[in-house]
Amino acid sequence: MNTIGTDIRITLWGSSHGSHIGCVLEGIGGGLDLDMERITAEMSLRRPTSGIGTARREDDEVLIVSGVTEGVSNGDPISIMIANKDTSSKDYEQFRHRPRPGHADFTAVIRNPHHDIRGGGMFSGRMTAPLVAAGTVCRLALEEEGVDVGGFTRSIGDVVDTQERGAKDCWNSRGFATRACASDIDAGMFETILEASSQGDSLGGVVECHVENLPIGVGEPWFDSLDGELAKSMFSIPAMRAFEIGDGVLSSKARGSEMNDPFTISGNEVFTKTNHHGGILGGRSSGMPLVFRCFFKPTPSISMDQSTVDLESMEDVSLRIEGRHDPCIVPRAVAVVEAMTSHCILDMMSRGGFIGN
Ligand SMILES: Cc1cc2nc3c(=O)[nH]c(=O)nc-3n(C[C@H](O)[C@H](O)[C@H](O)COP(=O)(O)O)c2cc1C
Repeated sequence: MNTIGTDIRITLWGSSHGSHIGCVLEGIGGGLDLDMERITAEMSLRRPTSGIGTARREDDEVLIVSGVTEGVSNGDPISIMIANKDTSSKDYEQFRHRPRPGHADFTAVIRNPHHDIRGGGMFSGRMTAPLVAAGTVCRLALEEEGVDVGGFTRSIGDVVDTQERGAKDCWNSRGFATRACASDIDAGMFETILEASSQGDSLGGVVECHVENLPIGVGEPWFDSLDGELAKSMFSIPAMRAFEIGDGVLSSKARGSEMNDPFTISGNEVFTKTNHHGGILGGRSSGMPLVFRCFFKPTPSISMDQSTVDLESMEDVSLRIEGRHDPCIVPRAVAVVEAMTSHCILDMMSRGGFIGN
C-alpha cells in the first residue's frame, strides 16, 4: 500500500492539492542529529528551476512534528509535514472523464471513482517532497556509518554524458540546474529541455546513482536481494520506466570473459579490478561502489493537442492540457532517487544487522 521498508518504514500520505502532504518515518533510533539545514538543502534540489521546471512555486518548508526532541531523534516515529500553498485545481476536473494520455488518471479513476483528481492527487510528483525529507534523515544516518549516496543526470533526451563518473561528480552536480556533472553538459541539457518545451512537448532521461563505502554482504537471500529491493524503491518513483545495475542491459550482449570482474587483493582487502557488476553479486553488496541507473519517461502532461476518450459519452475526443507542468522530470528526480536509495540502503543495513537501531 503506501508503506515501504521493513525495519525502516516510510508511510506516505496526502495529495497534490490537499492542504498538506507528508510521511511517517519509523525505525530511526534515538540520538540522530536531524540537521534541518541539510534537509532544507536537499529539498531545494528537488524544487523546479525556472524555465525547465513547473511554474508551481512551493516553499517546501519541512515541519517535523514528532520523533524529535531539541533537534535530535528520540526513537519515536518521525512525522513529516509540508504545506501545499500554490495550488490551482481548476484545470484538473476534466481529467476525471477525459484522462491524460500517459498519466495515472485513467487507472486511478477506474479503480476508485472518488480519486482526488486535483493535481494528479496521490499520483503526483508532488508526493516526492516528503520522500526527499524522510530520505535525507536516512542519509544522515548512513553518513554516520560512512556510507555515501550521490546521483546525477546521465542523459536528457539525446544529450548524453559519456564520461565515467564517481562520488565527487555526483556532489558537483548539485551546482547545476539539470544535475549534470559539468557546465557544458548542463548547458546542452538545459537547451534541449527549453527546445522541447517551446514546442509544447516534454523529455525523459536517465539518473545515475552511486553508493560508496557499503560493507560487503548487505542484501538478504532470494526475494529480498539488494538489487530487488532497490528496484522496488526506484519503481515507486512516478515516471520511472527501467532500472539497470552496473553494465545492465549491455551485459546481456557481452561475453563472460568481458563481463566478469577479476578479484584482486590490495592491502589486506579484496576488490574487483573492474566494476561491470555495479557492486552487487548474488543480491548482496560486494564492497565495490554500487552503480545503477533509473530511466525516466517524458512528462505525460504536454501542451500539444492529444487524443483521448470521454468516459461519459464514450467517444474519442481531442485534449489540450492547460496548467503547470515540468517539461522534464529528470533534474528534479535526482534528489528523489538519492532519497529513496538512502532509505532502501539504511533499511537493508538494519535488516542485515550492519547497524543497530
Ligand atoms: C519530481 C516529479 C515531478 C513530476 N512532475 C510532473 C508534471 O509536472 N506533470 C506530469 O504530468 N507528470 C509529472 N510527473 C510524473 C507523473 O507523476 C507520473 O508520470 C504519473 O503519475 C504516472 O505514473 P507513471 O508514469 O509511473 O505510470 C512527475 C514525476 C516526478 C517524480
